Amino acid sequence: MTKLLEVEQLSKSYRHKTGLFSGTKIVALEPLSFSLERGETLAIMGETGSGKSTIARLIAGAEKPSGGEIRLNGKPLQATDYAERCRNIRMIFQDSLRSLNPQITVGKQLKEAVRFNTNWDAATQQQHVVETLRKVGLLPDHYHFYPHMLSSGQQQRVCIARAIVLAPQIIVADEAFVSLDPSIRAQIINLILDLQQDMGISFIFVSHSTEIVKHVADKILIMHRGKMIEFGPTQVLVNHPKETYTRHLLQTGTL
Ligand SMILES: Nc1ncnc2c1ncn2[C@@H]1O[C@H](COP(=O)(O)OP(=O)(O)O)[C@@H](O)[C@H]1O
Ligand SMILES: [Mg+2]
Repeated sequence: MTKLLEVEQLSKSYRHKTGLFSGTKIVALEPLSFSLERGETLAIMGETGSGKSTIARLIAGAEKPSGGEIRLNGKPLQATDYAERCRNIRMIFQDSLRSLNPQITVGKQLKEAVRFNTNWDAATQQQHVVETLRKVGLLPDHYHFYPHMLSSGQQQRVCIARAIVLAPQIIVADEAFVSLDPSIRAQIINLILDLQQDMGISFIFVSHSTEIVKHVADKILIMHRGKMIEFGPTQVLVNHPKETYTRHLLQTGTL
Protein backbone atom coordinates (compact mmCIF):
# COMPACT_ATOMS: atom_id res chain seq x y z
CA MET A 1 0.00 0.00 0.00
CA THR A 2 1.27 3.49 -0.77
CA LYS A 3 2.33 5.61 2.15
CA LEU A 4 0.39 8.75 2.97
CA LEU A 5 3.45 10.97 2.81
CA GLU A 6 6.86 10.23 1.32
CA VAL A 7 9.64 12.75 1.46
CA GLU A 8 12.57 11.82 -0.74
CA GLN A 9 15.90 13.61 -0.89
CA LEU A 10 14.15 16.88 -0.06
CA SER A 11 16.44 19.92 0.06
CA LYS A 12 16.10 23.67 0.24
CA SER A 13 18.52 26.55 -0.11
CA TYR A 14 17.98 30.27 -0.09
CA ARG A 15 20.09 33.16 -1.36
CA HIS A 16 21.15 36.07 0.80
CA LYS A 17 19.27 39.02 -0.67
CA THR A 18 21.22 41.93 0.79
CA GLY A 19 24.47 42.84 2.53
CA LEU A 20 28.00 41.60 2.29
CA PHE A 21 26.95 38.04 1.46
CA SER A 22 24.34 39.05 -1.12
CA GLY A 23 23.84 36.27 -3.65
CA THR A 24 25.58 33.56 -1.62
CA LYS A 25 23.68 30.38 -0.87
CA ILE A 26 22.22 29.43 2.52
CA VAL A 27 21.57 25.70 2.77
CA ALA A 28 18.49 25.46 4.99
CA LEU A 29 17.94 21.76 4.35
CA GLU A 30 20.38 19.11 3.20
CA PRO A 31 18.76 16.20 1.30
CA LEU A 32 16.61 14.19 3.69
CA SER A 33 14.07 11.38 3.36
CA PHE A 34 11.32 10.08 5.64
CA SER A 35 7.76 8.83 5.42
CA LEU A 36 4.51 8.90 7.34
CA GLU A 37 1.55 6.49 7.38
CA ARG A 38 -2.12 7.43 7.62
CA GLY A 39 -3.18 8.64 11.07
CA GLU A 40 0.39 8.86 12.38
CA THR A 41 1.84 11.79 14.28
CA LEU A 42 5.31 13.06 13.53
CA ALA A 43 7.21 15.43 15.82
CA ILE A 44 10.05 17.51 14.38
CA MET A 45 12.60 18.60 16.99
CA GLY A 46 15.83 20.57 16.81
CA GLU A 47 17.37 23.83 17.90
CA THR A 48 16.55 27.20 16.33
CA GLY A 49 17.67 27.50 12.72
CA SER A 50 17.96 23.73 12.23
CA GLY A 51 15.43 23.66 9.36
CA LYS A 52 12.21 22.62 11.15
CA SER A 53 10.01 25.39 9.75
CA THR A 54 11.51 24.87 6.31
CA ILE A 55 10.32 21.24 6.34
CA ALA A 56 6.87 22.36 7.58
CA ARG A 57 6.57 25.03 4.86
CA LEU A 58 7.66 22.65 2.09
CA ILE A 59 5.17 19.98 3.15
CA ALA A 60 2.37 22.55 3.45
CA GLY A 61 3.25 23.70 -0.07
CA ALA A 62 4.03 27.25 1.06
CA GLU A 63 7.43 27.03 -0.66
CA LYS A 64 8.96 24.98 -3.45
CA PRO A 65 11.82 22.56 -2.73
CA SER A 66 15.24 23.16 -4.29
CA GLY A 67 15.61 19.42 -4.79
CA GLY A 68 13.90 16.12 -4.13
CA GLU A 69 10.23 15.26 -3.98
CA ILE A 70 7.26 15.13 -1.63
CA ARG A 71 4.56 12.61 -2.50
CA LEU A 72 1.05 12.47 -1.05
CA ASN A 73 -0.61 9.09 -1.60
CA GLY A 74 2.09 8.32 -4.15
CA LYS A 75 1.47 11.50 -6.18
CA PRO A 76 4.11 14.26 -6.32
CA LEU A 77 2.89 17.38 -4.51
CA GLN A 78 4.20 19.57 -7.30
CA ALA A 79 1.94 17.78 -9.77
CA THR A 80 -1.10 18.11 -7.51
CA ASP A 81 -3.73 20.72 -8.21
CA TYR A 82 -3.44 23.72 -5.82
CA ALA A 83 -7.00 23.44 -4.45
CA GLU A 84 -6.58 19.71 -3.83
CA ARG A 85 -3.28 20.27 -2.03
CA CYS A 86 -4.81 22.98 0.17
CA ARG A 87 -7.73 20.70 1.03
CA ASN A 88 -5.53 17.75 1.96
CA ILE A 89 -2.72 19.48 3.83
CA ARG A 90 -3.62 22.23 6.29
CA MET A 91 -1.36 24.36 8.44
CA ILE A 92 -2.02 25.73 11.95
CA PHE A 93 -0.08 28.84 12.86
CA GLN A 94 1.38 30.00 16.15
CA ASP A 95 -0.30 33.36 16.29
CA SER A 96 -3.92 32.30 16.03
CA LEU A 97 -5.50 35.74 16.41
CA ARG A 98 -3.38 37.19 13.63
CA SER A 99 -4.13 34.28 11.31
CA LEU A 100 -7.89 34.93 11.65
CA ASN A 101 -9.62 37.77 9.84
CA PRO A 102 -10.72 40.27 12.55
CA GLN A 103 -13.57 41.67 10.46
CA ILE A 104 -15.37 38.45 9.66
CA THR A 105 -17.25 36.23 12.10
CA VAL A 106 -15.81 32.84 12.93
CA GLY A 107 -18.65 31.00 11.19
CA LYS A 108 -18.36 33.01 7.98
CA GLN A 109 -14.61 32.41 7.79
CA LEU A 110 -15.12 28.68 8.01
CA LYS A 111 -18.13 28.70 5.71
CA GLU A 112 -16.15 30.46 3.01
CA ALA A 113 -13.73 27.52 2.79
CA VAL A 114 -16.64 25.08 2.62
CA ARG A 115 -18.44 27.13 -0.04
CA PHE A 116 -15.30 27.27 -2.14
CA ASN A 117 -14.60 23.55 -1.97
CA THR A 118 -18.04 21.92 -2.13
CA ASN A 119 -21.24 22.30 -4.12
CA TRP A 120 -23.43 22.14 -1.00
CA ASP A 121 -26.28 24.60 -0.54
CA ALA A 122 -25.92 27.43 2.01
CA ALA A 123 -27.87 25.65 4.75
CA THR A 124 -25.74 22.49 4.47
CA GLN A 125 -22.55 24.58 4.51
CA GLN A 126 -23.70 26.32 7.69
CA GLN A 127 -24.72 23.06 9.31
CA HIS A 128 -21.30 21.56 8.53
CA VAL A 129 -19.54 24.57 10.09
CA VAL A 130 -21.66 24.37 13.26
CA GLU A 131 -20.89 20.65 13.49
CA THR A 132 -17.15 21.38 13.06
CA LEU A 133 -17.29 24.01 15.83
CA ARG A 134 -18.88 21.39 18.06
CA LYS A 135 -16.11 18.90 17.23
CA VAL A 136 -13.47 21.33 18.50
CA GLY A 137 -15.40 22.02 21.71
CA LEU A 138 -17.00 25.34 20.71
CA LEU A 139 -20.69 26.22 20.81
CA PRO A 140 -23.07 26.91 17.89
CA ASP A 141 -23.30 30.53 19.17
CA HIS A 142 -19.59 31.00 18.49
CA TYR A 143 -20.51 30.98 14.81
CA HIS A 144 -21.53 34.63 15.17
CA PHE A 145 -18.52 35.74 17.24
CA TYR A 146 -15.70 37.88 15.89
CA PRO A 147 -12.21 36.46 16.68
CA HIS A 148 -11.37 39.15 19.28
CA MET A 149 -14.40 38.12 21.34
CA LEU A 150 -12.79 34.73 22.05
CA SER A 151 -10.07 33.67 24.51
CA SER A 152 -6.71 32.57 23.09
CA GLY A 153 -7.57 28.91 23.69
CA GLN A 154 -10.89 29.38 21.86
CA GLN A 155 -9.11 31.19 19.02
CA GLN A 156 -6.74 28.25 18.68
CA ARG A 157 -9.80 25.97 18.59
CA VAL A 158 -11.17 28.07 15.71
CA CYS A 159 -7.86 27.60 13.88
CA ILE A 160 -8.16 23.86 14.41
CA ALA A 161 -11.78 23.98 13.20
CA ARG A 162 -10.58 25.82 10.10
CA ALA A 163 -7.90 23.17 9.60
CA ILE A 164 -10.32 20.22 9.86
CA VAL A 165 -13.41 21.70 8.20
CA LEU A 166 -12.52 20.14 4.84
CA ALA A 167 -11.43 16.80 6.40
CA PRO A 168 -7.74 17.03 5.45
CA GLN A 169 -5.30 14.12 5.42
CA ILE A 170 -2.48 16.01 7.13
CA ILE A 171 -2.30 18.92 9.57
CA VAL A 172 1.04 20.71 9.95
CA ALA A 173 1.54 22.78 13.13
CA ASP A 174 4.74 24.80 13.48
CA GLU A 175 5.18 25.65 17.18
CA ALA A 176 1.46 26.41 17.14
CA PHE A 177 0.82 25.89 20.84
CA VAL A 178 3.84 27.58 22.41
CA SER A 179 2.03 30.75 23.43
CA LEU A 180 -0.85 28.99 25.20
CA ASP A 181 -1.04 28.49 28.98
CA PRO A 182 0.10 24.98 29.94
CA SER A 183 -3.39 23.81 30.97
CA ILE A 184 -4.98 25.12 27.77
CA ARG A 185 -2.12 23.67 25.75
CA ALA A 186 -2.83 20.24 27.25
CA GLN A 187 -6.53 20.58 26.36
CA ILE A 188 -5.72 21.57 22.78
CA ILE A 189 -3.28 18.70 22.37
CA ASN A 190 -5.82 16.23 23.72
CA LEU A 191 -8.38 17.69 21.35
CA ILE A 192 -6.04 17.05 18.43
CA LEU A 193 -5.49 13.46 19.56
CA ASP A 194 -9.27 12.93 19.72
CA LEU A 195 -9.79 14.43 16.28
CA GLN A 196 -7.03 12.25 14.89
CA GLN A 197 -8.75 9.13 16.16
CA ASP A 198 -12.14 10.31 14.93
CA MET A 199 -11.06 11.48 11.50
CA GLY A 200 -7.82 9.54 10.84
CA ILE A 201 -5.86 12.73 10.23
CA SER A 202 -2.05 12.63 10.29
CA PHE A 203 -0.36 15.32 12.29
CA ILE A 204 3.09 16.86 11.81
CA PHE A 205 4.20 19.26 14.51
CA VAL A 206 7.31 21.18 15.44
CA SER A 207 7.93 21.10 19.18
CA HIS A 208 10.62 21.71 21.79
CA SER A 209 8.84 19.80 24.51
CA THR A 210 10.01 16.24 25.09
CA GLU A 211 7.03 15.73 27.40
CA ILE A 212 4.50 16.63 24.69
CA VAL A 213 6.40 14.72 22.00
CA LYS A 214 6.49 11.55 24.11
CA HIS A 215 2.78 11.89 24.84
CA VAL A 216 1.67 12.55 21.28
CA ALA A 217 4.14 11.46 18.61
CA ASP A 218 4.43 8.07 16.89
CA LYS A 219 7.64 9.13 15.18
CA ILE A 220 10.32 11.74 15.82
CA LEU A 221 12.59 13.54 13.37
CA ILE A 222 15.65 15.23 14.86
CA MET A 223 17.19 18.16 12.98
CA HIS A 224 20.56 19.86 13.48
CA ARG A 225 21.93 22.61 11.21
CA GLY A 226 19.81 21.61 8.22
CA LYS A 227 20.61 17.91 8.53
CA MET A 228 18.39 15.08 9.64
CA ILE A 229 20.25 13.54 12.56
CA GLU A 230 17.83 10.74 13.35
CA PHE A 231 14.33 9.59 12.43
CA GLY A 232 12.33 6.74 13.89
CA PRO A 233 9.58 5.53 16.22
CA THR A 234 9.24 7.59 19.42
CA GLN A 235 9.91 4.61 21.72
CA VAL A 236 13.14 3.79 19.88
CA LEU A 237 14.48 7.35 19.87
CA VAL A 238 13.52 7.94 23.50
CA ASN A 239 14.88 4.65 24.84
CA HIS A 240 17.69 3.84 22.43
CA PRO A 241 18.84 6.95 20.57
CA LYS A 242 21.68 6.26 18.14
CA GLU A 243 23.05 9.78 18.29
CA THR A 244 24.34 11.70 21.31
CA TYR A 245 22.65 14.80 19.93
CA THR A 246 19.24 13.07 20.04
CA ARG A 247 19.79 12.06 23.65
CA HIS A 248 20.87 15.58 24.55
CA LEU A 249 17.88 17.18 22.84
CA LEU A 250 15.36 14.80 24.41
CA GLN A 251 16.88 15.28 27.84
CA THR A 252 16.88 19.07 27.68
CA GLY A 253 13.67 19.52 25.70
CA THR A 254 11.33 21.94 27.43
CA LEU A 255 8.98 24.55 26.14
N1 LIG B 1 13.26 32.94 3.50
C1 LIG B 1 14.51 32.68 3.91
N2 LIG B 1 15.58 33.35 3.36
C2 LIG B 1 16.82 33.08 3.76
N3 LIG B 1 17.16 32.17 4.70
C3 LIG B 1 16.16 31.48 5.28
C4 LIG B 1 14.78 31.71 4.94
N4 LIG B 1 14.02 30.87 5.69
C5 LIG B 1 14.87 30.18 6.47
N5 LIG B 1 16.14 30.54 6.23
C6 LIG B 1 17.35 29.98 6.89
O1 LIG B 1 17.25 28.57 6.84
C7 LIG B 1 17.71 28.00 8.06
C8 LIG B 1 16.63 27.15 8.68
O2 LIG B 1 15.56 27.98 9.07
P1 LIG B 1 14.21 27.43 9.73
O3 LIG B 1 13.69 26.30 8.92
O4 LIG B 1 13.32 28.59 9.92
O5 LIG B 1 14.72 26.89 11.15
P2 LIG B 1 13.91 26.48 12.47
O6 LIG B 1 12.47 26.50 12.17
O7 LIG B 1 14.44 25.14 12.84
O8 LIG B 1 14.28 27.51 13.50
C9 LIG B 1 18.14 29.16 8.94
O9 LIG B 1 19.54 29.30 8.79
C10 LIG B 1 17.41 30.33 8.36
O10 LIG B 1 18.10 31.53 8.57
MG1 LIG C 1 10.92 27.60 13.08
